Amino acid sequence: MQRNRLGVVTGGTFNAGLTVRLDPGINVEALRIGTFCVVEGEAYRYFSLIQDLQLHATDPGLMASPPRDLSPFLRRTLAGTSTYAVAEVKPMLMMPKYGDTEIVDPAMAEGPKAVRTIPMHFAELAEATSFDFADVFGEDDGGSYFALGSPLAMDGLDVCVDLRRIVERSNGVFGSTGTGKSFLTRLLLSGIIARNAAVNLIFDMHGEYAFSVQSEAGTWVKGLKELFGSKVRVYGLDTKTKGPDSHLVIGLNQIEPADILLLSDELNLSPTTETNLIILSRALGDEWLRTFLAMEPVALQTFCEERGAHLGSLEALQRKLVKLRQPYVLESVSFNVIDEMLQYLERGKHVIFQFGRFSRPLDYMLVANIVTRRIREKYRERVEGWQASHNEADRPKPLVITIEEAHKFLNPEMARQTIFGTIARELRKYFVTLLIVDQRPSGIDPEVLSQIGTRISGKLTDERDLEAVLTGVGNRNAIRAGLASLDTRNEIMIFGHAVRMPMQLRTRRYDEAFYQAVSDRSVPPATATTAGGHSLDDLVSDLWG
Ligand SMILES: Nc1ncnc2c1ncn2[C@@H]1O[C@H](COP(=O)(O)OP(=O)(O)OP(=O)(O)O)[C@@H](O)[C@H]1O
Ligand SMILES: [Mg+2]
Repeated sequence: MQRNRLGVVTGGTFNAGLTVRLDPGINVEALRIGTFCVVEGEAYRYFSLIQDLQLHATDPGLMASPPRDLSPFLRRTLAGTSTYAVAEVKPMLMMPKYGDTEIVDPAMAEGPKAVRTIPMHFAELAEATSFDFADVFGEDDGGSYFALGSPLAMDGLDVCVDLRRIVERSNGVFGSTGTGKSFLTRLLLSGIIARNAAVNLIFDMHGEYAFSVQSEAGTWVKGLKELFGSKVRVYGLDTKTKGPDSHLVIGLNQIEPADILLLSDELNLSPTTETNLIILSRALGDEWLRTFLAMEPVALQTFCEERGAHLGSLEALQRKLVKLRQPYVLESVSFNVIDEMLQYLERGKHVIFQFGRFSRPLDYMLVANIVTRRIREKYRERVEGWQASHNEADRPKPLVITIEEAHKFLNPEMARQTIFGTIARELRKYFVTLLIVDQRPSGIDPEVLSQIGTRISGKLTDERDLEAVLTGVGNRNAIRAGLASLDTRNEIMIFGHAVRMPMQLRTRRYDEAFYQAVSDRSVPPATATTAGGHSLDDLVSDLWG
């Protein structure tokens, strides 16, 4: 393969990196710090990073009295004889030499490894090519490797994430407001859908994943429903909005004490609430909330006398819980709609949950918790069924649950009680993982953060957030420096389970070219719609599955 040679190794150490004398014809100005290159050693190819560039002279006299008004010709003549440039190069990964059919080191059979040695003198340095990037990050050929962006100093080269590994663990998308988290999440979800890596349940708090939204630049970008048609099923809470395929109502009978505790801040509950909730649910059973809210003052007083509860605090609790009486909350509801949602997921569809005008944290947290608890419970049953039957047909599809503003569910007080905390901690035991999207990672329980497989972060301005993103990560200094030097938009740092090494990337554009790449049969929202507001695609799929 034709490589663009840059120079040869003349020295260096394992810890500090290699010194490479650049070839005379190489224009130092065309090289950039952060460019990836490859050193061809005797047995290995070293995927490396240019860390520094230096200028040197063989004759110190020349530097003491530098020639004036050098012509380009003279400057070129001096270059390579009296003057030369040096690059400091840090090997990151080692892999078999390009084109090697015989793998010398069996440890290399599974792909690139962290560097353990250095090449000899005069090993050649060359620019990294798309082949080297494909060897390190995988190649986006429609399989499980999905291009997420390009290295900052090298536009046009793809860096892929391994979607199989993404769905194996919970993941986090972080970054200050406006850094591109929602766009990036949409890219990642599109990849998971297009490549069939998992099924998704997306709690779309701000209504930005299903249908088109306007970017800050003023252009309209497609939502996942528009991109993937009947593969995506939209549920809504607000019957006044038209988009959703179905609506969900919840019942007071579905609300458990843990749901109420999750809303402590939103409902301004006192610290004694937990004890009172235990008394209420023990005494009143499944219908505890409905019965409690319906209690007249006299009945409440009798209840307190019988159960030894404090009247004043139960009265206060009753007043606060009245706020749960929202248009989408009925007295008693079966789990039919949530179970239907589950059936769609089992058929490989993706579910987006929209809140419409009920997008206050209270609505979002209450509903997301109830829906997720039910779905995770059913998933657990399915997984246990599959483990008992050993029948591959019973094996559930991995499920990824996306939550924005994740710290609301996963802060240190809540993470132990909410279903989201449980999912984050139990890894993928029941085939369910989280995609946590948050601008304030410091609000998330460190135990949850340390379980996150792959972290993708845009710029973070708050020092505590930076620290939080690095929780439980090795090689912190290099990653911290990478994070700190990101631009405020479209630049991310990705590290963890789904990539071989931490990388700074320019995020892939979410635009027409991307739509083409992920959807071979994208359905324009207006054209394929029938009278009932459902696309033809939906109807066919509903009939035939
Ligand atoms: N990959 C991308 N392709 C195209 N435009 C992008 C991309 N990433 C970011 N943008 C631009 O940056 C703007 C902000 O991105 P986005 O809405 O994803 O930020 P955010 O981090 O989710 O912000 P917030 O915290 O306020 O929700 C977008 O409106 C869009 O104009
Ligand atoms: Mg956002």
